[in-house]
Amino acid sequence: MLIILLSSLFTLIKSDIINIQISTGNVSATIQGQTCCEADTRGWMFRGIPYAQPPVGDLRFSYAQRMDPQGVVNATEYGDYCSQGDHVQEDCLFINVFTPVGVNSSMRLPVFFYIHGGGWEGGSGDFGPGIYPNLVNRGPLVMVSINYRLGPFGFFTSREDTIPGNFAISDMIESLNWAKRYISFFGGDPSRITICGESSGGESISTLTLSPPARGLFNQAIMESGSAFGGGVSLCDYRNSSIQLAMTLGCTTADQWNSGQNFAQILQCMRSINATTLQDADLNFPYRHFMDWGTVIDKLYMPDTLENLAMQRPSMNVMAGDTTTEWLLWEQGNIQNNLNSSSFTRQGVINQLKGLYEMHCWNNYDAVVQGAQQYYIDANNMVDDDHVGWMSLWITVGSRNLSEIKRNCSAYE
Ligand SMILES: *[C@@H]1O[C@H](CO)[C@@H](O)[C@H](O)[C@H]1NC(C)=O
Ligand SMILES: *[C@@H]1O[C@H](CO)[C@@H](O)[C@H](O)[C@H]1NC(C)=O
Ligand SMILES: *[C@@H]1O[C@H](CO)[C@@H](O)[C@H](O)[C@H]1NC(C)=O
Ligand SMILES: *[C@@H]1O[C@H](CO)[C@@H](O)[C@H](O)[C@H]1NC(C)=O
Ligand SMILES: *[C@@H]1O[C@H](CO)[C@@H](O)[C@H](O)[C@H]1NC(C)=O
Ligand SMILES: *[C@@H]1O[C@H](CO)[C@@H](O)[C@H](O)[C@H]1NC(C)=O
Ligand SMILES: *[C@@H]1O[C@H](CO)[C@@H](O)[C@H](O)[C@H]1NC(C)=O
Ligand SMILES: *[C@@H]1O[C@H](CO)[C@@H](O)[C@H](O)[C@H]1NC(C)=O
Repeated sequence: MLIILLSSLFTLIKSDIINIQISTGNVSATIQGQTCCEADTRGWMFRGIPYAQPPVGDLRFSYAQRMDPQGVVNATEYGDYCSQGDHVQEDCLFINVFTPVGVNSSMRLPVFFYIHGGGWEGGSGDFGPGIYPNLVNRGPLVMVSINYRLGPFGFFTSREDTIPGNFAISDMIESLNWAKRYISFFGGDPSRITICGESSGGESISTLTLSPPARGLFNQAIMESGSAFGGGVSLCDYRNSSIQLAMTLGCTTADQWNSGQNFAQILQCMRSINATTLQDADLNFPYRHFMDWGTVIDKLYMPDTLENLAMQRPSMNVMAGDTTTEWLLWEQGNIQNNLNSSSFTRQGVINQLKGLYEMHCWNNYDAVVQGAQQYYIDANNMVDDDHVGWMSLWITVGSRNLSEIKRNCSAYE
């Protein structure tokens, strides 16, 4: 799970205000954006448009609620990004639209709809001006990016109807609804929307292809380094982030939670806690790892096993791939300072494989570890302390082959 933090700095040499008029049966609005930027990065940008009601108060741990633009919408700056690390902001459901210069509502350009990665606990839809030469003007196409709820705000769940979870998925779908309704006014073709994401963004894209409420909201999908079938994606039973958080915040005891009788009160309590306290409690989990939070089976967004949902999914063009050697990002420090440590030997790599949290999604952990070890490690005849060799193999496994470690989460059985 790569966390990609993208620079959001635009250098505005000279920016003019651009007004886009939206006019439908019951919606009339002016979206006020800006021109961007220098010679080779020219385009129009409309940033920080709210696409759903702010999920605060009673809307925390509720599905995204529709919000239409009205009057003049100031879309000249990115909206705040969703709570992550020590940044706390629940009012963060914003959509951004990037177009070539001079679009109008009769152009019908293809739409590239991007969902950011970051382990479902970081990242944002903020992009720099490189998107114009590299993507928007190359199409030409209309690019859309979004923020969606992260961590506990996006995924806290009782695994039943009171707190169904998957709130982040509801955000993604509501933002797609927004694009479907309004992108034509920005020169986009609502019947040609391609969704794309990397890492947990790729997991999101894959999830959207499986989710019935997302049907008809896009035509094609690109998933990079991530699938809904990945080992870390769904909340396996062993991952108890929700009960852990509710207990830490004094909203439940283990007995109350496990009785299944108290979720209405627990929800009320969890909504009464301020966002900073909630975020801090999550960050202070003693055994944190990426993907502490993820999707669960529910009645609406993921109403069956992944396998069954996949069998029912309508056919469409899909491009799936991995980002070559992306695991290198996590190992840079080790390569510089730690290469000769016992972690990068035959036994060290076996130990790291055993420690992967994806492995714990299997009920038959021992057998899976053994199989993975045979497949990835035993077959390899490098000498046991070839540090460079084992580091290199570990990067390959991390970059390309983790997706082959199929999960076996009872959340999806
Ligand atoms: C416009 O109409 C739709 C139903 O067709 C409704 O859901 C939405 O809230 C309305 N928006 C406004 C701003 O009235
Ligand atoms: C739009 O919002 C930005 C950022 O908050 C602010 O600097 C600017 O003055 C606003 N523009 C208008 C026309 O209100
Ligand atoms: C939209 O732009 C195209 C290309 O510049 C132009 O041919 C067309 O007349 C414009 N349509 C409207 C409604 O302005
Ligand atoms: C949650 O799981 C962790 C790690 O397995 C464990 O230490 C902790 O006791 C569990 N907490 C609850 C409330 O189940
Ligand atoms: C949040 O709640 C905590 C604990 O009640 C309190 O100490 C803190 O000041 C509150 N923070 C905000 C921003 O309201
Ligand atoms: C690791 O060991 C090799 C061979 O002994 C040595 O050349 C290299 O400098 C060592 N690397 C580090 C980072 O200590
Ligand atoms: C990773 O998987 C690919 C495709 O199955 C395979 O060709 C490759 O050898 C595997 N790499 C490792 C290090 O096992
Ligand atoms: C997953 O676990 C279930 C229940 O333990 C078992 O029946 C099933 O065979 C497992 N699936 C795989 C692919 O290991």
